[in-house]
Amino acid sequence: GRGSRLVGSGSAVPKHVISNEELSKFVDTSDEWISLRTGIRNRRVLGEDESLTTLSVDASRKALEMANVKPEEVDLLLLCTSTPDDLFGSAPQVQKLLGCHNALAFDLTAACSGFVLGLVTATRFIRGGGYKNVLVVGADALSRYVDWTDRGTCILFGDASGALLLQAATDDQDSLLGFDLRSDGNGHKHLHVTVDDVDSSPNGAETNGSTFKLPGKATYECLQMNGKEVFKFAVRAVPQVVEGALQEAGLTGDNVDWLLLHQANQRILDSVSDRLHIPSEKVISNLANYGNTSAASIPLALDEAVRSGKVKAGDVVATAGFGAGLTWGSAIVRW
Ligand code: ACO
Repeated sequence: GRGSRLVGSGSAVPKHVISNEELSKFVDTSDEWISLRTGIRNRRVLGEDESLTTLSVDASRKALEMANVKPEEVDLLLLCTSTPDDLFGSAPQVQKLLGCHNALAFDLTAACSGFVLGLVTATRFIRGGGYKNVLVVGADALSRYVDWTDRGTCILFGDASGALLLQAATDDQDSLLGFDLRSDGNGHKHLHVTVDDVDSSPNGAETNGSTFKLPGKATYECLQMNGKEVFKFAVRAVPQVVEGALQEAGLTGDNVDWLLLHQANQRILDSVSDRLHIPSEKVISNLANYGNTSAASIPLALDEAVRSGKVKAGDVVATAGFGAGLTWGSAIVRW
């Protein structure tokens, strides 16, 4: 058997909380506006003694403890993030600090869809053979890339990390029951953090007497978003992939115990669950406390729901991520 099972979850958030109240002291907004339009009340932001790596180590350690698996038993660590501590990737640092010295570790970048893509990738590694314990970590720190003077975006995001442990099973059954993954670069203009144009630079030099300028050190623009377009995309595209993934799993909306969407905005969660005819009692939402934590939002919410006893062994959880790229996708899993 080469089935892949979900056996552990963990999560970690920064200590520092920024409430809507506090935000309204430095941008022209209000608790009322933010709560009404998004459902968000608080978000966490990385402090000086914290990093994406340290949060991810904490989240991963909790997942390993839940599953009673030792760090050295981990074969693969996928860090799904768009905001690593190092441009070359942070997964090997997480691996080192966790003590997973037998694991291959690398980053996977797909914005808010990263975790769903990571889950499917991990399952494929286990199915392919040779990988028994795989940590899938979703982590982001968009606080580093938002313009804290832009009320249209800075109110939405928070930092966090969440981890799931997948394990090779003795039988052939997967926890991943079905999936549907998509991307479309045409929508890139609606949501991006692009490298700034770099013109004349301190280390620029003329080559061969020509006017060619060597590139300077790159910096990134702040996160740019057309909120209305992203909203429309999400409510149109997400129900389609959830239905696609359910169909692949041989299930319908009636079989779903929990709908766990990327935690972007409560109005998106409401609209998608409406379109899927899934009642609000089955919709997992913790965005009031953390805002949009990008690739971390699904494992963070799942971990909380598992630890609080809401999600129980055997429950079918329909997850869906969506965001920049554009990328979007759904994975149906059995906890
Ligand atoms: N406080 C007060 N007023 C505000 C704020 C704010 N924080 N932000 C915008 N406004 C104002 C606008 O200036 C505008 O004023 P005007 O009518 O005088 O021009 C008015 O409120 C309405 O603004 P809209 O942008 O039209 O508001 P909308 O209802 O679309 O809500 C929001 C904006 C919350 C951003 C919404 O569009 C949304 O949630 N979109 C989805 C965004 C999302 O989920 N992005 C993440 C995707 S995941 C990823 O990959 C990162």
